Amino acid sequence: MSQPSDDMHGFVPVVRVSDVPDPGRALVEVDERLVLLIHAGGQFYALDDVCTHDGGPLGEGTLEGHTIACPRHGARFDIRTGKALTMPATQPTIVHDVRVQSGQVYVRLRDSPATPAL
Ligand code: FES
Repeated sequence: MSQPSDDMHGFVPVVRVSDVPDPGRALVEVDERLVLLIHAGGQFYALDDVCTHDGGPLGEGTLEGHTIACPRHGARFDIRTGKALTMPATQPTIVHDVRVQSGQVYVRLRDSPATPAL
């Protein structure tokens, strides 16, 4: 059995790749924090399951390509960057680091939003 390489410091195993269809999603808990894991276009993305408008559960929202819409008031976020794309949200949600190794998906938590891409 292969072990994670040394640069996997801080990464926590969450699911097997085969556990989440593409497109699909899973809610996972990492260090007592609820993380929305999304499988789309052959890649995995991880973000806080919290809308920055008013705390809506993004994991229950509609996924279209690389955007997810909050189920409460419809704000859309880019799952790759966490950027708020439409009102009423104006602040990005936090995206976390994801690695896939030997069929296992790992997440490393971040404490702040990624620098928004211009
Ligand atoms: S709580 Fe998400 S758009 Fe309002």
